[in-house]
Amino acid sequence: MAHLIKRFATPSKPELVVTYGSLDADVQELLLSAFTVRLRAYAPYSNFKVGATFRGKARGEIFSGCNVENSCFSPSSCAERTALTKAISEGEREFLAGAVVAYQPDVFTTPCGVCRQFIREFTSDNDMPIYVAQAREGRTAETPFANEDPVLCTSIFNLLPNSFHTYQI
Ligand code: THU
Repeated sequence: MAHLIKRFATPSKPELVVTYGSLDADVQELLLSAFTVRLRAYAPYSNFKVGATFRGKARGEIFSGCNVENSCFSPSSCAERTALTKAISEGEREFLAGAVVAYQPDVFTTPCGVCRQFIREFTSDNDMPIYVAQAREGRTAETPFANEDPVLCTSIFNLLPNSFHTYQI
């Protein structure tokens, strides 16, 4: 029976909190873009701004998105889905990594359940790293992060274990 669970997604590494300054330049760039796109969030109802980015595999291009709310609530889009929808419509379907930036004082803001499944759709059998950082109060586009800021290094398979996925389509 073991073959029935063989393809279940297993995280490539456990979650870890590191400092922004210790991250590779390409990850810092992904987080900086997420900070910047967050400033464009359309969130008049929740006032909760989120920015997300994904780096495409083909050319290393960064696709970014913010949350876009609606007075009717349900048509709202989270930042992660905005970014991925932009990427898919531009022809990119494979991604090297993702980043999410929002601000809650005492907790990292990780993707919602719907976004986890949305990200899973565009992940192969290999895990995708996802970096989560805070947009701390008083930070601007000029100095979004300090070297000592904490960053959660997680991944889609950590965030959504044993996810639903169709392997033959
Ligand atoms: N939101 C995101 O954009 N991404 C997340 O990971 C969590 C929540 C948005 C949805 C809504 O516009 C606002 O944050 C409050 O829930």
